[in-house]
Amino acid sequence: MAVARVPFIAGNWKMNLDHQQAIAFVQKLHWALKEAKHLDGTVEVGLFPPFTDLRTVQTLLDADKIPFALGAQDLSTKDSGAYTGEISGAFLKRLNCAYVIVGHSERREYHAETDEIVAAKVQAALRHGLVPVICVGETSEDLEKFGASAVPVGQLEVALEGVSADADIVVAYEPVWAIGSGQAATPDQAQEVCAKLREVIAGRLGQEAAERSRVLYGGSVKAGNIASFMREPDVDGALVGGASLVVDEFAAIIRFQKHVGV
Ligand code: PGA
Repeated sequence: MAVARVPFIAGNWKMNLDHQQAIAFVQKLHWALKEAKHLDGTVEVGLFPPFTDLRTVQTLLDADKIPFALGAQDLSTKDSGAYTGEISGAFLKRLNCAYVIVGHSERREYHAETDEIVAAKVQAALRHGLVPVICVGETSEDLEKFGASAVPVGQLEVALEGVSADADIVVAYEPVWAIGSGQAATPDQAQEVCAKLREVIAGRLGQEAAERSRVLYGGSVKAGNIASFMREPDVDGALVGGASLVVDEFAAIIRFQKHVGV
């Protein structure tokens, strides 16, 4: 029997909003959603602010009992020690982070993160009880040469090496060419690749893990196209960049879940 997967809408702020702007943003977003009573367990909302905002956002979520999950955008492969500038998963856990993004294409591109480093980060997240949101996706050159799924499938195969069957993971399919470009993948393509990624989870972690793990689509998701993605059976939510910084737009993306009754 199929396991019901709660849709996950994750807002990746990237390097935007300082800790003061974060307070105003979270309060406005909460207000926009509270009014419409849309946070009743039909959708999980995750916020992924910069490291320097995490403490502030965590305090605000706690104080106002705001039911958003907190996540970080990256973590170190190491747990502690002489690694200047790095952030341990242990620190993120202490700040009540539930999630951490691993292997975002901007980390792969600008910080030379290889599949092996991404795999080590997945292990670091799991060691500290954080759910890794494992990002995979092809560039436009990859798409031309190999089609849509070969590269993301290969990236996920490596990222899941040594992960145990009962591990909690989230996978995000983010075609690099769709990120921040305004040109999202088609729902058909998102479905095709997300289904293949679920097969990778099944192959590595087993059928039960494949059925319960959420696979997200990311890349130019907006209020205007979220519905088309959420209709696809293997798309369980979205990793949203630009549109997660605009309160009304992000609230509309989250609210839409309710309307389509997924
Ligand atoms: P975008 O970014 O929504 O701005 O395309 C998505 C992401 O990078 O996670």
